Amino acid sequence: MSGWFETVAVAQQRARRRLPKSVYGALIGGAEAGVSMNENLRSFDELGFRTVTAGQPPVREMQTTVMGQAAAIPVVISPTGVQAVHPDGEVAVARAAAARGIPMGLSSFASMPIERVVEANPHTFFQIYWAGDRDSILARIDRARRAGAVGLILTLDWSFSHGRDWGSPDIPQSIDLKTVVKHAPEVVVRPLWLLQWLRSGGLPELGVPNFQTQEGYLPGFFEAYGTWMGTAPPTWDDVAWLRSQWDGPFMVKGIHRADEAQRAVQAGVTAISVSNHGGNNIDGAVAPIRVLPEIVAAVGNDIEVVMDGGVRRGSDVVKAVAMGAKAVMIGRAYLWGLAANGQAGVENVIDVLRNGIDATLLGLGKASTDDLVPDDVVIPDGFFPPPTQR
Ligand SMILES: Cc1cc2nc3c(=O)[nH]c(=O)nc-3n(C[C@H](O)[C@H](O)[C@H](O)COP(=O)(O)O)c2cc1C
Repeated sequence: MSGWFETVAVAQQRARRRLPKSVYGALIGGAEAGVSMNENLRSFDELGFRTVTAGQPPVREMQTTVMGQAAAIPVVISPTGVQAVHPDGEVAVARAAAARGIPMGLSSFASMPIERVVEANPHTFFQIYWAGDRDSILARIDRARRAGAVGLILTLDWSFSHGRDWGSPDIPQSIDLKTVVKHAPEVVVRPLWLLQWLRSGGLPELGVPNFQTQEGYLPGFFEAYGTWMGTAPPTWDDVAWLRSQWDGPFMVKGIHRADEAQRAVQAGVTAISVSNHGGNNIDGAVAPIRVLPEIVAAVGNDIEVVMDGGVRRGSDVVKAVAMGAKAVMIGRAYLWGLAANGQAGVENVIDVLRNGIDATLLGLGKASTDDLVPDDVVIPDGFFPPPTQR
């Protein structure tokens, strides 16, 4: 099959070759020294398996449900607010997720409107930040509801930490002639990317269509970001209020400690994602997999607990599920696939994960992801941080 890749790492190499430097840099992201971003990957590598040799089940089951939606494997597309990766953007991601039977989270900073994404995948959750006043937040979730979003994700772990030791990519406000001239040197060396956009009818718009108001006003990326930055962070009462405004599954994404997971339960949420925003929140935030079991122990019987951060292989999914996650969410993995090969690339990434989950279940002698337990993972001493005291 043309463009097929065998691991997510290969997809990343292709994305790096295909994307202009600043677009690739925006996907890498990471905060400050990138300690948390790298820690997310390293933490999975520290976990091991003890395999069985005979008597394995001939067929393995992997399906589950997340926020009321069926998932063929315990994997959900995590919302990512990125621009200019591929002309089909999140619609291609949504189609790939639908083709492979997994739900999709759509960022309010995504490049495609919620209406088009739900059309491509009816199992779509809309993600928002606490940005703007209550009325504007309500207007955004009303629009998502009308579009048919089947769940809401409120992401709270963002601290506006912008510096990176390797330099932040230069993201233009919009694409005009001046920008074209400025970015020409990095774009001409990526002709396939450019050609793909020109064939689609133009250059990336860098808009945030899910911030469009009912009156039709469409803010630019930086204007929307500025609104968010200027909004005081929500209290837990605000979270409870927003939850009361959404009739259906509601996730808080970015929980990192057991006491806050309990606050989320009290606020009435139905799911949380244990996350450090892929290492994009404050640098030094420990890997979600290290705090997952503590959080599952605190609230796992009350709400759904998923995790995200550093998932690149099916074996990572198995480790997370064995340690108590209902499912994982993936970010960069599918972005690399999208950049490398559009919808087929995202399907390829999901297939890589599916095959990896299946192979790991076989190696462990497990008939189903439902049968996984913490003992299936070999956890080194000192892996977990001391539990929170409050
Ligand atoms: C480029 C980029 C943009 C992101 N944008 C958002 C966003 O708009 N909303 C959100 O909830 N999370 C966002 N995230 C975080 C992801 O949803 C997810 O938590 C993270 O990517 C998981 O780590 P992974 O990339 O190692 O899988 C973003 C992550 C990346 C890498």
